[in-house]
Amino acid sequence: MAMDFGAVAAAWGRWGPVFERGAHAIGERLIETARIGPGNDVLDLGTGPGEPALTVARAVGPDGRVVGIDISPAMVALARERAERAGVGNAEFVAADAAAYSGARRFDAIVSRWGLMFLPDLDASLAHYRGVLRDGGRFAAATWGAPSEVPMISLPMTVASQRLGLAPAPLEGGPFALHDAAHLRERFLARGYADVEVQDVPTMFPFTSAEEYVTYMADIAPAFHGLLGRLDAAEGAALRKDVEAAAGEHFASPGGGVQFPNRVIVIGATSPA
Ligand SMILES: C[S@@+](CC[C@H](N)C(=O)[O-])C[C@H]1O[C@@H](n2cnc3c(N)ncnc32)[C@H](O)[C@@H]1O
Repeated sequence: MAMDFGAVAAAWGRWGPVFERGAHAIGERLIETARIGPGNDVLDLGTGPGEPALTVARAVGPDGRVVGIDISPAMVALARERAERAGVGNAEFVAADAAAYSGARRFDAIVSRWGLMFLPDLDASLAHYRGVLRDGGRFAAATWGAPSEVPMISLPMTVASQRLGLAPAPLEGGPFALHDAAHLRERFLARGYADVEVQDVPTMFPFTSAEEYVTYMADIAPAFHGLLGRLDAAEGAALRKDVEAAAGEHFASPGGGVQFPNRVIVIGATSPA
């Protein structure tokens, strides 16, 4: 089943600055990997509340532009608000399915930060986007590693599974669906991309306290948010306490608070002539 980001969109807006403590570096890495520079025309797939589109908008400057698309109209509304607040005039946000989007002209680069894993037929989408890129244009995307390599996301549902005896969720269609870097590389190559490079980018996500972390996950993570909505108040509160305790026990940071080392995979590829 597709993940329902619409239900957590407002929370993504509220918690944006906390997520960006770790996520911003990945946006910058995507810009480098896609070789984005001034004047470029860039497409961002699954932009959520506007990243990395807004960072790209600054990198391409006044002669460039970026189109950010997301399937959730609520996310798109947030991205537009953010652009307006930040005075970014060269970013446009469109509510659209990233399975197969085409703009009015071909793009110099396509980026996607933690968006590709939610596309129902990635191979068909990769084939489609080869033609959406100009010849020689670059595609750069970030995905997460396997659940055990990304404790920030996997911890709440791991604790919930133990506490409630739930079966582990299938990886397909969720945040870990593209955790196999070698396989992902093969899929780009099989769709005719060239210069395919895969980078492993260990990325730390800090929180000021275990409580901040649990509240963040309860608000923004579709699976954990959905589960808490189905539990009664006492059971939900007990589960949150267990997650908080596990975070404090295993991920305490030296300066107080908690921090999560997460494996991010960044893939870059060229659409050949
Ligand atoms: C994990 S969030 C990442 C948001 C943003 N790129 C970031 O890094 O902060 C994934 C986003 O992909 C969007 N999404 C999921 N399926 C999609 C689809 N088929 N087409 C467009 N967007 C989609 C969701 O609505 C959500 O906003």
